[in-house]
Amino acid sequence: MANVTFSGPTLPKDLTVYAIAGDTGTLLALAKANDIPIPFQCQDGECGSCLVKVTYLDNKAPMAVDLTEKEKVTLSVNGKLTRSLLAAAETDHRPPPYRLACQFIVRDENIRIEFSGEPGVE
Ligand code: FES
Repeated sequence: MANVTFSGPTLPKDLTVYAIAGDTGTLLALAKANDIPIPFQCQDGECGSCLVKVTYLDNKAPMAVDLTEKEKVTLSVNGKLTRSLLAAAETDHRPPPYRLACQFIVRDENIRIEFSGEPGVE
């Protein structure tokens, strides 16, 4: 079981929800199921509206590190994924700080998600 804590100005306070282990849904799907108002449009990794900042809270190697090809392109175009951050993710398994909620697969780990409430702004 993973705790996912959402934090953003459009929430009255931080909200922690539980993601079921083995469920391979996206972070955006989890947010929608719990009425967390993360902005979104395309839901396909192309618009960048669902930009979030992810902090891994467990004292172990992060699991949700792999980026989709669309996520790599969109984050790069928006200046949120430098070449060095991409290399760190792909070769050292170190996750970049910014992700797209519609592409991020929630794993069995505790994470904190920060979002601005404005499309494409972390
Ligand atoms: Fe468009 Fe996630 S909703 S990139």
